[in-house]
Amino acid sequence: MNITPLPPAKEPTGLGRLPVARWFLVIGVIAGVVLLTGIVVAMMMSSRARELAKAPAVEVQLARLNVALIVLFAAMLVFVAALAFIIRYAVLKPVDQLAQQVRTVAAGDFDHTLHVDRPAELAELSSHIDSMRGRIVSAWRAAADQAEELRRSNGELEQFAYVASHDLQEPLRKVASFTQMLEQRYGSQLDDRAKQYMHYSVDGAKRMQLLINDLLDFSRVGRITGEKSVVESGAALDAALENLSGTIEDTEATVTRDELPKVRGNRLQLTQLFQNLIENAVKFRSEAAPRVHIGVRRSGDMWEFSCADNGIGVEPKYADRIFLIFQRLHPRDVYPGTGIGLALCRKIVEYHGGQLWLDGGAESQGATFRWTLPAAGDDDE
Ligand SMILES: Nc1ncnc2c1ncn2[C@@H]1O[C@H](COP(=O)(O)OP(=O)(O)OP(=O)(O)O)[C@@H](O)[C@H]1O
Ligand SMILES: [Mg+2]
Repeated sequence: MNITPLPPAKEPTGLGRLPVARWFLVIGVIAGVVLLTGIVVAMMMSSRARELAKAPAVEVQLARLNVALIVLFAAMLVFVAALAFIIRYAVLKPVDQLAQQVRTVAAGDFDHTLHVDRPAELAELSSHIDSMRGRIVSAWRAAADQAEELRRSNGELEQFAYVASHDLQEPLRKVASFTQMLEQRYGSQLDDRAKQYMHYSVDGAKRMQLLINDLLDFSRVGRITGEKSVVESGAALDAALENLSGTIEDTEATVTRDELPKVRGNRLQLTQLFQNLIENAVKFRSEAAPRVHIGVRRSGDMWEFSCADNGIGVEPKYADRIFLIFQRLHPRDVYPGTGIGLALCRKIVEYHGGQLWLDGGAESQGATFRWTLPAAGDDDE
């Protein structure tokens, strides 16, 4: 199993740098010296008292006091030795053992079990840490399996979309062109109803061709034409505006922009992204002449772009639905289109490691879309 090992532990600061064992040693030595000094001073005072009193009864008492002090000192020594032994074997060693096991796990061996059997508190702590480790590892494994499964099924779906749309084109082209030929050659012999039916068939076949072409474009993102390099996003926007020049002129649209940065991406796809968003901004316009602004701001190691228009806007409840493939909010005869533009944009942005969303809280009256793209680092130059 392979998860990146954790970074090295943070170094403690100040007095906390000293290991516990050393604290005990220092305090023990100080206590010992104080005790010893106390006993020596007491013995000196008792011998001085013996010299001064010179009475046998006092002498006996002082000799007893001396013995008591020596016994007390010996008892203290035994007590300190016992304490040191207990601390060493009941606290420091198990803590060290647990730290060693935790270090092994942190270094990347996530299957290493953590177990210390004494003292009771550390045994409990180690068993809780170990069950936490076990749960995290199994959740991680399940997520990794799911991600792998998703990757596989996504790949299959893309392949399927590609094959289906690619292989459907040929028979469909036949249906469309032969129906058109029928209409042209035998149109005069048909009554109005038959002509209407013929018209519906041609229209249906053409629309299906459009859908299939869009589906093909969609399935191509990331599979073909996917190389990434440093791209001037301003140049991608210029190319998109060039492709849309006819529409922009017809609708007297104004497109303004911030100073646009360099990003890491695929130039063709970024052009497609700008083109679809600006095309929507112009298509879904209100009474006023369309005004579109492409803005940008830095967000960590990404750039956050925005495309704000003064059009009819999107109700917040449709904020997710509009990104689904072939989902539209308006009838085709009012606003033409197949409903793939935003799905394609989202796929392009996600392919670049970013996100695309409708800004529900934007102040402008139209619609504002936002998306993130990875900034080109200095070493990308
Ligand atoms: N700028 C916008 N203002 C208002 N509504 C929008 C805007 N952009 C998208 N929408 C809504 O989201 C729907 C989906 O957009 P999308 O670009 O995917 O499809 P489309 O423009 O209808 O068709 P296509 O892009 O395939 O020609 C649109 O039908 C429209 O209802
Ligand atoms: Mg569109």
